Amino acid sequence: MKSFNGRVAAITGAASGMGRALALALAREGCHLALADKNSLGLEQTQTLIKSSTLSPVMVTLQVLDVSDRQAMEDWAARCVADHGQVNLVFNNAGVALSSTVEGVDYADLEWIVGINFWGVVHGTKAFLPYLKASGDGHVVNTSSVFGLFAQPGMSGYNATKFAVRGFTESLRQELDLQRCGVSATCVHPGGIRTDICRSSRIDANMTGFLIHSEQQARANFEKLFITDADQAAKVILQGVRKNKRRVLIGRDAYFLDLLARCLPAAYQALVVFASKRMAPKHRTPVFETNDETRL
Ligand SMILES: NC(=O)c1ccc[n+]([C@@H]2O[C@H](COP(=O)([O-])OP(=O)(O)OC[C@H]3O[C@@H](n4cnc5c(N)ncnc54)[C@H](O)[C@@H]3O)[C@@H](O)[C@H]2O)c1
Repeated sequence: MKSFNGRVAAITGAASGMGRALALALAREGCHLALADKNSLGLEQTQTLIKSSTLSPVMVTLQVLDVSDRQAMEDWAARCVADHGQVNLVFNNAGVALSSTVEGVDYADLEWIVGINFWGVVHGTKAFLPYLKASGDGHVVNTSSVFGLFAQPGMSGYNATKFAVRGFTESLRQELDLQRCGVSATCVHPGGIRTDICRSSRIDANMTGFLIHSEQQARANFEKLFITDADQAAKVILQGVRKNKRRVLIGRDAYFLDLLARCLPAAYQALVVFASKRMAPKHRTPVFETNDETRL
């Protein structure tokens, strides 16, 4: 797909961050939009921003939904086609983050993140695929993460969902290539991008004293690692779609971690453990009081 002008794109997670930036960038190129999120206020703000920043008017429809709800996603896909006449692109972008040890993580938190980050992507892909094929020129864009290429401690739930999105999308791309059906797929692996994800992430209490000093400090430190802005990320994603790339990396941090995992596919883990130990709170070494009687 070389041009987005006159096309129709469906975007999940469009109330904030990269989803909003994608919506704005596509609108500027004359692409009509079907935007979904669980946050209705954020969606309306995205729509207002589009109206105030777009030269040529595009059609924008909004849908409040939870991407982990399969029926809601199927209904939304059908509504997009009813409203816009066709859909050419789906960006399965909505996502959340979770920080916890494997031992301490609640099943409810794991189900929450898998429901959104993995099932949300599966629901969006399967619900829209028949319509993308019918459009004759379609593209599925699924957002994984650099943590879909590289694992780290305290992120098992996030890592699991993002590795799963990568496997799912790479397999899909190969099927679409074999079918030569006019639809393609791209998997996106952003590094740290300045968005709201850190504020909305769940950090389990079991991380305090293990890998972090306090929740507040961890969020602040995490945000320092977000080196790319969302508009730049959207630009890189859309360039990747134009070039029909299989994999899109965003940010020099993503390129660095990808290279590390390629050069040291298993041994990189030892480096991560070493770095984590240096950054983790120092475990208090027991102090034994001595007095003259005990001292030999
Ligand atoms: N920001 C980063 O550093 C970074 C890095 C790698 C990958 N990612 C991925 O990029 C994607 C976009 O995240 P972002 O950084 O723009 O974060 P963000 O928090 O700014 O945006 C995520 C959006 O998803 C929505 N959302 C969350 N749960 C939902 C649900 N159940 N149903 C519908 N909408 C829901 C939120 O309301 C929010 O508007 C996510 O998949 C995230 O995992 C982000």
